Amino acid sequence: MTDALGARHAFAIDLAREAGALASDMRGTLGALEAKNPMDYATRADHAVEALIRRRIAERFGDPVIGEEDGGAPADLVWVVDPIDGTVNYVHGTARWCVSIALVAGGEIESGVINAPDEGRLFTARRGHGAFVNGVTARVSGLRHGASPVVEIGWSPRRPIEHYGALIQRLIGDGIEFRRSGSGALGVADTAAGLNDGYLELHINAWDVLAGMLLVREAGGRTNDFLAGNGLMNGNPIIVCTPEIEARLGSAAMGLL
Ligand code: IPD
Repeated sequence: MTDALGARHAFAIDLAREAGALASDMRGTLGALEAKNPMDYATRADHAVEALIRRRIAERFGDPVIGEEDGGAPADLVWVVDPIDGTVNYVHGTARWCVSIALVAGGEIESGVINAPDEGRLFTARRGHGAFVNGVTARVSGLRHGASPVVEIGWSPRRPIEHYGALIQRLIGDGIEFRRSGSGALGVADTAAGLNDGYLELHINAWDVLAGMLLVREAGGRTNDFLAGNGLMNGNPIIVCTPEIEARLGSAAMGLL
């Protein structure tokens, strides 16, 4: 199994590069947007990139896939992919979007790869083998910057806006600054890279965060038990952070999750 997982991890890195290149190429020719929900869109590129990822996995391994655009079903070994995370940023022409690919086997996230082509960053992690950004070891911040903690708060209409208001109020009350940049996958990956001190969202889907969660764990950070209670199919709250603020984030989110 170890070799099988290693082969899949190497494949995922190549695949994330190919998928990122396709998304970059399609950016000028997106055509009409598909509104899945108010403020939640898919483009031709989201569909084309997911189709490419599914085709490559089928050709090479025949493994099952759960994807943002075309769904899927749980399996003992399953790929979980977001063809474009940060779709609104991608449509607006900003750099903060990425392809996110995770492999889950036996209930463990074994491989996580995030490619952010416009930012020139490729994040890779294999369970037990460390986390890397462009091949350089990643570590969570450990609050070594010495300033107030900064936590990214993701938002979607899937949870009441009043809960987000309360969360931000509690964090600020506790001396924790917040940001929102529109890509859950990159917000979590930035925690692994030590560029923020945590990422918190009251509900997010598995394809947005599984790859980043493995990065955070391998970079020395903490994550909640996202896969509990069928998080794979239904999503869950996500809390990832540098260990020093784990208890503070847990308290801020209490009663809001
Ligand atoms: C969304 C983004 C956003 C997060 C949402 C996600 P999408 O994914 O990651 O930052 O707050 O919860 O749904 O639609 O860009 O793939």
